Amino acid sequence: MSDIQTQFVKNVLADAASAPKPTGSAFAPSNIALAKYWGKRAAALNLPINSSLSISLGALGTRTEIRVRGSVEATSSSLDRGSDVPVAPDDVYLNGVLQAPETSFARRVSSFLDLFRPLFAGRGFEVRTENNIPTAAGLASSASGFAALVMALDDLAGWGLDKKRLSMLARLGSGSAARSVYDGFVQWNAGENPDGTDSFAERVDAVWPDFRVGVLELSAAEKPVGSRDGMNRTVETSALYESWPAQARRDIETIRTAIENRDFSALGAAAENNALAMHATMMSAWPPLIYLQPESIEMIHQVQRVRAEGLEVYLTIDAGPNLKLLFLAENEAAVAAAFPELQLIKPFG
Ligand code: PMV
Repeated sequence: MSDIQTQFVKNVLADAASAPKPTGSAFAPSNIALAKYWGKRAAALNLPINSSLSISLGALGTRTEIRVRGSVEATSSSLDRGSDVPVAPDDVYLNGVLQAPETSFARRVSSFLDLFRPLFAGRGFEVRTENNIPTAAGLASSASGFAALVMALDDLAGWGLDKKRLSMLARLGSGSAARSVYDGFVQWNAGENPDGTDSFAERVDAVWPDFRVGVLELSAAEKPVGSRDGMNRTVETSALYESWPAQARRDIETIRTAIENRDFSALGAAAENNALAMHATMMSAWPPLIYLQPESIEMIHQVQRVRAEGLEVYLTIDAGPNLKLLFLAENEAAVAAAFPELQLIKPFG
């Protein structure tokens, strides 16, 4: 926890109300970026180099319940007490199972909670997280996880924060979490200010009930490099990265217009090109970052084959080996026949 993060949290909570409850709870959906976030301009506040645009996954995501040991007033003035406050350990449950404090899951949750702990008199928390996303499916559970955690904290303390502020706080846990405080299509504006106050997500005002996402879980192999380190390596060493921010801007424009016009072909093409361009920047980093496995390449070819035969299906891939397919309801049966392992998601219910 750095001073800059503590100050940021204090600013975001400056006008927050205080109406503590015994338990806070919230649900946040997972999301898949159609125009990806790749690269940070500032690490401590998790500020991105480029804006991004995603689709939230409806009822698929994380439900979190949080309680503090004992009842306390949570106000921003108690942040002034800062690090004198003794730190108590948290009990972190994932899908009903208590996680040992040294596991990476418990460590990430606890160090995020450290940002808010002074507001709760330094006490420990009990956190119960339920993911209804198949955790191995390569769907970003950190996005829904940190969004649900911030929203549950807001409920616990009675801060009454708006979505913009929730998005800014979720961003500190994981960049993509900034987008998971909303349903539907979401744009996270990178912003320019070093203080991070103009970097938050907003909902794109559109409902597209026929929009479908399919997950192809291809490999459960552990990611060789996490997204944080992967991004930094790409920004520092890839010559191709120079072209990335402009590509991201163009793709967001194209996708927004495509959403407005319900032009699925334009959206799919831009999303697929965006994902593969991101992977090109990763591969051109040094040492190279190759998240794709042989099965991923095989499926990329399979998508292109069925598309050449007339089936409108496009792909996107995050920093991992699994593919997400994009298609419309009218092609659901044909896509399921071409990809029998597909897990179907209806983002608009
Ligand atoms: O939010 P992070 O730090 O896990 O990074 C997410 C990076 C990508 O999933 C590859 C792209 C994105 O915009 O979600």
